[in-house]
Amino acid sequence: MAGILDNAIRRWLQDPHKILGPYIKEGMTVLDLGCGPGFFSVEIALMAGKSGQVIAADLQEEMLQKLRDKIKGTELEKRITLLRSEENKIGLAENVDFVLAFYMVHETLDQEKLLHEIISRLKPDGHILIVEPLFHVSKTAFQETVKKAVDSGLVPVESPKVFLSRAVLMKKSRQ
Ligand SMILES: C[S@@+](CC[C@H](N)C(=O)[O-])C[C@H]1O[C@@H](n2cnc3c(N)ncnc32)[C@H](O)[C@@H]1O
Repeated sequence: MAGILDNAIRRWLQDPHKILGPYIKEGMTVLDLGCGPGFFSVEIALMAGKSGQVIAADLQEEMLQKLRDKIKGTELEKRITLLRSEENKIGLAENVDFVLAFYMVHETLDQEKLLHEIISRLKPDGHILIVEPLFHVSKTAFQETVKKAVDSGLVPVESPKVFLSRAVLMKKSRQ
């Protein structure tokens, strides 16, 4: 699975800089939730720069180990914090500017609980990008996820195009 998630073909079809470049700025604290082997975490760390911070969270220690091995001995070790999360608790200790949830929300048992924790840690002007696989997650299932997010206190901002995916960028509601 980790091989499918991090290879040159994916990098070309789902270029992290094209997908995330419009949203991630230097100095941001970013949560890569369900980071897997860190396909996006590494690129986010480069985009957020030396003054930025990435929290790469995953349920699976094996995935975190792959990312740990990838950044070992590099400058990125200082910029990426690995976080072993639990099924219904991310365990974030800090507030974040941006959350990426790429191909992970459909895997969670309790989406509402996850969304509540994210919102509690999202800074007032923060955003979350939810991306789900096109064929694995139906339009209806994706709309249900967006509804749960709206009911939890997020508002949709835009629907970016991501290859073979359904995607929505959301921010905190002002109410
Ligand atoms: C399909 S992979 C996607 C990995 C990565 N986001 C990517 O696009 O390359 C989904 C990942 O989400 C993780 N995951 C699933 N549910 C999770 C949860 N509740 N909290 C944290 N990670 C979770 C899985 O362990 C897996 O590594």
